[in-house]
Amino acid sequence: DKGNHRHFMVKEIHEQPEVTGRTLAHYLDLAEGRARPPEGIDFSRIDRLSITACGTAFYAGFVAKYWFERFARLPVDIDIASEFRYREQPLSKDGLAIVISQSGETADTLASLRYARVEGQRIAAVVNVRESTIAREADVVLPILAGPEIGVASTKAFTAQLAVLAATAIAAGRARGSIDDVEEARLVAAFSEVPRLMHEALRLEGQIEALARDLAKVKHCLYLGRGTSYPIALEGALKLKEISYIHAEGYAAGELKHGPIALIDEEMPVVVIAPFDRVFEKTVSNMQEVAARGGRIILVTDRKGAEAAAIDAAATIILPEMPASVTPLVYSIPVQLLAYHTAVFMGTDVDQPRNLAKSVTVE
Ligand code: F6R
Repeated sequence: DKGNHRHFMVKEIHEQPEVTGRTLAHYLDLAEGRARPPEGIDFSRIDRLSITACGTAFYAGFVAKYWFERFARLPVDIDIASEFRYREQPLSKDGLAIVISQSGETADTLASLRYARVEGQRIAAVVNVRESTIAREADVVLPILAGPEIGVASTKAFTAQLAVLAATAIAAGRARGSIDDVEEARLVAAFSEVPRLMHEALRLEGQIEALARDLAKVKHCLYLGRGTSYPIALEGALKLKEISYIHAEGYAAGELKHGPIALIDEEMPVVVIAPFDRVFEKTVSNMQEVAARGGRIILVTDRKGAEAAAIDAAATIILPEMPASVTPLVYSIPVQLLAYHTAVFMGTDVDQPRNLAKSVTVE
């Protein structure tokens, strides 16, 4: 039931504060300021993490790489499942494999799980569907508790995956002694603000819809980000292409000058995901290179970022200020809304985009 929403996708976008709040409350003890250690994983004995998934779930894993490295000082490899299963990389005997899958049925992700098992890895599965094959075959199941996701383009499952992975990375940091009580409490407090921050992000929908009217006229679009905003740029580009059929590319902001800058002209919209964090200044200098070539910048940032950017952006979407650790969850919302409203203007079948299936059970 879509309620009073026009599509399941936008209904699911709007469910995110509630869903994320519930998922975070399951994995974090908000009152005590602690992350609940996941049963069945002893992070103090794990020396390497391999994260494997497809599509949007892969981008959740990509964000998690930054979190596990920063909070838990754990080396992390990330791989697209269709590559992982054939790549023959050496895996550590004390390694943990995390597979991420909304449906729990994606053929390549399941094959990666089986491959990791043969290679002696302990396996944790981050899934939405608890009765799925991937959940059944894993040693440890970390449910994302997002409820059924009907829109083919994943939205609430993505942010719920991020919530589980963030909480797990904090718990790993505690188990490994790389964060102390104080730091743990600070991180838990930061994540407990995410539902409220998401509500505020959703209030920007009118502005984003107006931008989408122009975006619906373009043939190509670039998304840039650094640090954890890089996977969000990738996810933004994937959302746009899969439902609006506009060609979109996500790039690490620092890679711009190594090729894609050749694409920039007055016609090229460039969505820059840039919260005012420790890499902001670097992203701004990349953005200036775009501005100097006439690119139409849509800057997604906060008040401090908008002031510091000193740039003639075509549009600035201003989110509330928040700790850097939580930006991926909140900055997902404007990129989802931008893709959604662009697709609505294009008149595509938003919930059932052409050529796509909700669950990809063939290789
Ligand atoms: C994009 C999307 C896909 C899935 C991918 C993995 O919006 O939905 O990229 O994320 O097919 O699916 P699951 O998570 O079911 O393994």
